[in-house]
Amino acid sequence: MDIKKLYKQYVLNTYTRVGPVFIKGKGSFLWDDKGNKFLDLFPGWGVDILGHSHSKIAKILSLQSKELVHVPNNLYQPYQALLAKRIINEAFKGKVFFANSGAEAVEGALKLARAYGSQNKRTEIICMENSFHGRTLGALSCTAQKKYQFAFRPLLKPIKVAKFGDFESFKKKVSKKTVAVILEPIQGEGGVNTAPKDYFLNLRKFCTANDILLIFDEVQTGMARTGKMFCFQNYGVEPDVFALSKGLGAGFPVSSFVVKEKFSKVLGPGMHASTFGGSPLATRVALEVFKVIKQEKILDNVNRQGAILKEKLYEFKDKFGIIKEVRGLGLMWALELTIDAKPVFQEALKNKLIINFTHNTVLRIMPALNIDRSTLLKGLSILEKALKEFV
Ligand SMILES: Cc1ncc(COP(=O)(O)O)c(C=O)c1O
Repeated sequence: MDIKKLYKQYVLNTYTRVGPVFIKGKGSFLWDDKGNKFLDLFPGWGVDILGHSHSKIAKILSLQSKELVHVPNNLYQPYQALLAKRIINEAFKGKVFFANSGAEAVEGALKLARAYGSQNKRTEIICMENSFHGRTLGALSCTAQKKYQFAFRPLLKPIKVAKFGDFESFKKKVSKKTVAVILEPIQGEGGVNTAPKDYFLNLRKFCTANDILLIFDEVQTGMARTGKMFCFQNYGVEPDVFALSKGLGAGFPVSSFVVKEKFSKVLGPGMHASTFGGSPLATRVALEVFKVIKQEKILDNVNRQGAILKEKLYEFKDKFGIIKEVRGLGLMWALELTIDAKPVFQEALKNKLIINFTHNTVLRIMPALNIDRSTLLKGLSILEKALKEFV
């Protein structure tokens, strides 16, 4: 059976697909239908934080699928409550809403902001240049990139766009109508753009003083990716609301937004819902993900392997003139090139290494958080070889 032909004939053509047909994964490796083995330094675009087919996740999926897959949200089940408690214990005092995807979590956070603003006629939301929050119309409206928005105007209004990392730019956009600001603590799709701690401290102070909701999109940065359970913990700043997805289910679709106690009554019964959100299966898997993060000392590993990855990437920068900048934190890194990144990505893929490229000139590396040193170094040696082809 020609799978690629079936895609062409039957699957809506909204993705640029590359490479072979993958049929199996284990840890940081993928196998195609011809038995070729690939090293994956970008598993699931940040989703598969425990690598592919982690045995404990597979086991709990199997177990819970035989007990109870889904009940509607007007009934009680144990795992949603237990998972909410777990997330709150890791974050701050507050409450959690469960959904299924990153965009859906962001959408809920935006709705909460609008409901909060409706109390005193504030509707304006500020987002950041180069942001990425998802493809639903609300999340897309806060994704300030022409290439994603152009075909879908008019979008949600009023939304203003500030420069990420530039506090003065944010302040200039604030008006009496501003109810919330949404940003990724590290912009992922935008090219792994970081901002200094001061920026976040200033945002926090200003938002508190002016009753503006500070919303963090931790869809990509959450769940130990940056060396802390949530990225905001690197900056000593707590948002009022944050969205969580990708790594939360380590490959199983589940997401949430987390709300500080002070704002936890803004959404009441009937104001927001999700049929599949927080099912027994999804929430039990996510609980297991937290357990594995603790049992397997994933945070330590992120910090250890992250330091190796950082050092190697800076070594590459010293060696290869085509690398302009190295950016990142934990196990979330990028190389900004002086040349097109796509051919480097393709060369790596030819040598059975999966990485990612974005914004034309940026190579992205986000390994599984349980990757071991030798696998990481093996992947980096393939990347080094690929880079060498272009100097
Ligand atoms: C920061 C961020 N927010 C939201 C999303 C959207 O998530 P989803 O594709 O699950 O809707 C993504 C996806 O890459 C993301 O990186």
